[in-house]
Amino acid sequence: MFKVPPIPAARIPELLRAMPKAELHIHIEGSLEPELIFALAQRNGLSLPYADVQALRSAYAFTNLQSFLDIYYAGASVLLHEQDFYDMARAYLVRAAADNVLHAELFFDPQTHTERGVAMETVINGLHHACVDARKDLGISATLILCFLRHLSEESAFETLEQAQPFLDKIVGVGLDSSEVGNPPEKFARVFARCRELGLHLVAHAGEEGPPAYIWSALDVLKVERIDHGVQAVHDAALMQRLAQDRIALTVCPLSNQKLCVFPNLGDHNLAKLLDAGLAATVNSDDPAYFGGYINDNFTEVFAATGMTVRHAYQLAFNSFEASFAGNADKRVWEHKLKERFERFMEHDY
Ligand code: ADE
Ligand code: ZN
Repeated sequence: MFKVPPIPAARIPELLRAMPKAELHIHIEGSLEPELIFALAQRNGLSLPYADVQALRSAYAFTNLQSFLDIYYAGASVLLHEQDFYDMARAYLVRAAADNVLHAELFFDPQTHTERGVAMETVINGLHHACVDARKDLGISATLILCFLRHLSEESAFETLEQAQPFLDKIVGVGLDSSEVGNPPEKFARVFARCRELGLHLVAHAGEEGPPAYIWSALDVLKVERIDHGVQAVHDAALMQRLAQDRIALTVCPLSNQKLCVFPNLGDHNLAKLLDAGLAATVNSDDPAYFGGYINDNFTEVFAATGMTVRHAYQLAFNSFEASFAGNADKRVWEHKLKERFERFMEHDY
């Protein structure tokens, strides 16, 4: 185990920003900043029910997940052409690279677009080209995870998988998102089994607002490799043990949890508790344009609010690489860079 150097607490924010990291829970449609929403609406000849950027941003006051989803799906309706998807992903990847993200796994919600008549090919090609370009000119590795909307039927998920079939070489896995409570993972048992046969990686949102039972069924019925959010696991000791033993990563999103009133006070967030119980927690931004911060903001704000330590910082960054769906060779390179960055911090050569 790497011996974390004794970096002074006052330098933790600087360290959090500088350390290499992976982002494993980012909905690319949730990275659409109000400025880009207005620019795309204008480019596509669409009108929005908000007077200007400021009016839209001031509508971002959420009471729970559903109150956010309503406005998030409305924002995504400005995306029509391949270039729109490219521009959205490009803007996120530029931001992520500036936050020292070495690898990002981008969620996207194709049903939000195909239901409006946008072709699957348009969505995937735009996002994929942005990932290819980012590797070349930003030095950041980026892959795609197709998410099924759980408020829709399993039949609709199967149709979506069918539409994505010609492009499966451009996605690494599938996920499950949208309205959690009332839409348990087992509703999607058959489509996840099919995705597993196709060799896709599997993840699902579970235990964001929903009960620990949803995390159990994501693991045992869907057979997912990571749990998105999962913060409600602390209410079930046997589940905590299972997650720790099997090293099932949780992609935790502190600012999202605060803004959606899961932990209205960030100081009450249970991230340190999850890590200290031996769970492979990670820090992510979820929907940064809506929740007031990208990945580094999530790190610095949750550390400031909870008083987490340098050891927690190292563990979170290490977990992000380890839990990614990248190859082992890339993981070893990134983990080496992480150790080096911590050691260099001691020499004050930042
Ligand atoms: N889609 C975008 N963000 C989400 C979240 N935090 N939970 C569920 N579905 C989402
Ligand atoms: Zn999410």
